[in-house]
Amino acid sequence: MAKTTKAKAITKAKTKAAPKAKTASKTAAKTKPTAKAKPAVTRAAKPLSQFAKVAPGELQTLFDYVRYALSRFAEADLAFAHGTTDPVAEAAFLVCDTLYLHPERFEEFAAARVTAAEGQQILEVIHRRVTTRLPAAYLVNKAYMLGLPFYVDERVIVPRSFIGELLGSHFDGEDGSLIADPEAVESVLDLCTGSGCLAVLASQRFPNARIDAVDVSPDALEVAAENIDIYELEDRVTLYQGDLFKPLGDTRYDLIISNPPYVDAQGMADLPDECRFEPELAFDGGADGLDIVRRILAEAKQHLTPTGGLLCEIGRGRDNIDAAFPDLPLLWLDTEESEAEVFWIAAADLT
Ligand SMILES: C[S@@+](CC[C@H](N)C(=O)[O-])C[C@H]1O[C@@H](n2cnc3c(N)ncnc32)[C@H](O)[C@@H]1O
Repeated sequence: MAKTTKAKAITKAKTKAAPKAKTASKTAAKTKPTAKAKPAVTRAAKPLSQFAKVAPGELQTLFDYVRYALSRFAEADLAFAHGTTDPVAEAAFLVCDTLYLHPERFEEFAAARVTAAEGQQILEVIHRRVTTRLPAAYLVNKAYMLGLPFYVDERVIVPRSFIGELLGSHFDGEDGSLIADPEAVESVLDLCTGSGCLAVLASQRFPNARIDAVDVSPDALEVAAENIDIYELEDRVTLYQGDLFKPLGDTRYDLIISNPPYVDAQGMADLPDECRFEPELAFDGGADGLDIVRRILAEAKQHLTPTGGLLCEIGRGRDNIDAAFPDLPLLWLDTEESEAEVFWIAAADLT
């Protein structure tokens, strides 16, 4: 990242009602998003005493608690669908968060002992994860992307877009960069912004850009506003409520980034329990997953400057996209954990 911004602390005891979005709702209808699918699973945790199979003093170090968590996670057959498939990373995240440590510091402190009171708090959070199946990020109201913390709750999908990594690896102005000079980028649009995580990351990658961020969900925009406030970006990031490009008039951008809903009907039916706590609106891409992506491809050119481009995540839908748009010269990009789930196309190549 070209520049780092210090985040204000994300408080643990956030209430569900975040402050009203200060800059949201510039135009566009104030319609509520469609009703969320209610999880089939319960949020009520059984008493900890019936769950914790631990005698006093048996668990001592951070590492002991992570190992214990792994056993409970395996017993409960949890799904790990929020940016990592790794139960060790998830357990370390929960242990570290309880102890006010950044998860990158886990190894440094793995052998440190925890106090009895801290151990009790760790057992509580493991217990809640297992018995409610709430994603870990919702349990602690926090998710990290590229090491940066974001406030999250059930009004937004847990941030895990591959675009975050790609902004670092493919837009740095070095050899092979898709944009020659990140400092020359003046405007960025984050379509389908959710928690605002990509807008914040874009503000760091493109330090001179103004950023517009759109979401159809007023609930999501309240969370995005919170993250914009945490990163003190009110002067650079403007939130709009509405349907894709509609709230933006004729505005053009040097870069459009988007992680839209792209799960197809089969994928929606197969979502793990954990994902059913997330807004359905964030996933549902219609029968073949491309309802929103098709509209973005159709309209992007009118909102890009002539030398601009579109970076769009589509999950596992590459075959469908290739079949639907055989003549579009899409450049498929890989990350550490994904293959061809994000494409890039220059404005000049869009029709
Ligand atoms: C997959 S989430 C991405 C959120 C965020 N960008 C991220 O990467 O974590 C998709 C987002 O698109 C929003 N959305 C769905 N349909 C939309 C539409 N027609 N116009 C604008 N936003 C939409 C949802 O509310 C959701 O917040």
